[in-house]
Amino acid sequence: MLETIKWRNGKVVMIDQRRLPNRETYITCTSHKCVASAIKNMVIRGAPAIGIAAAMGIALGAQGIKTSDTEVFLRKLDRICSEMAQTRPTAVNLFWAIDHMKALVSTNRNYSVDRLKRILISEAQKMLYQDIEVNKRMGVNGMVFIKDGNTILTYCNAGALATGGCGTALGVIRAAHESGKRLRVLAAETRPFLQGARLTAWELKKDGIPVTLVTDNMVGYFMKRGDINLVMVGADRIAANGDMANKIGTYSVATLAKVHKIPFYVAAPISTLDLSLKSGSHIPIEERDPQEVTHICGKRVAPKGVTALNPAFDVTPNRYITAIITEMGVATRPFSKSLRALVTSRKTV
Ligand code: MRU
Repeated sequence: MLETIKWRNGKVVMIDQRRLPNRETYITCTSHKCVASAIKNMVIRGAPAIGIAAAMGIALGAQGIKTSDTEVFLRKLDRICSEMAQTRPTAVNLFWAIDHMKALVSTNRNYSVDRLKRILISEAQKMLYQDIEVNKRMGVNGMVFIKDGNTILTYCNAGALATGGCGTALGVIRAAHESGKRLRVLAAETRPFLQGARLTAWELKKDGIPVTLVTDNMVGYFMKRGDINLVMVGADRIAANGDMANKIGTYSVATLAKVHKIPFYVAAPISTLDLSLKSGSHIPIEERDPQEVTHICGKRVAPKGVTALNPAFDVTPNRYITAIITEMGVATRPFSKSLRALVTSRKTV
């Protein structure tokens, strides 16, 4: 199985997603600053993967704190957590993971610093394994929506590379494929960072799942022709009413799906829900370097001196979403009710 990130011998090892598909290289981090920069610079990306990286980064940073005084340790750890929180603003899994690690040390604050350090390492590793399990459960819950012979459009990369393994949207597609259903994936290339062309196409091809690449502006054409049966995407943050932020361009795909009466599914773990936000208009949208637009794979494609805009995410309104697939079950409209019920059922398990 493809390993996006792992804890190895007191270090954090990540596949460098900026180099894929041409080079399969790995980055080894020995400090939390290295992990924070890897998140910021897209060595690792995708909401759940960012959360796991942050947890491992915090565990790594904790090992470097030289004190046996718990209060000093907690103060320094807090600073490390704040650095992690500054990396990327949209995917809520990042903040979920940071809060989780903070709460863990806070509940165990009467333990020795050495013991707290060990607890943080094992929790970060647990988060990775649990994420893979969560994705598998999502796969089982979502594969019913894929029929034998279907063509599925996916956008960005919501696969093994975006998670601890297996993937959210691609996890559902993988589950359907493994169950014997014949299917084909249309991967939209996903400008400007090309997660679809570089990452989704790469990992599906590696797994022998039929994948065909299309440019983002071909989606309407293929929908109109009746070539797409359903859309399956991941999410970076889902508000209480079901509005969801995902890679820039997802809103356009959802709008086209609505016009053409094509079901639009979102697969995301409970950790991607942010029920503290009433609607998607409150989701912070990351602005990235305009160079990602003026250049493709480091090569300038726009004239010198031309400015560009680069919002990294957009918000799809809940009315365009057919269902939200989670590890706890499937939410349908009204999402405010069904999402809350799924969160409650998770707490009671
Ligand atoms: O900027 P990225 O590559 O981190 O954006 C990733 C996405 O938008 C994914 O679709 C989303 O995180 C879901 S991944 C399971």
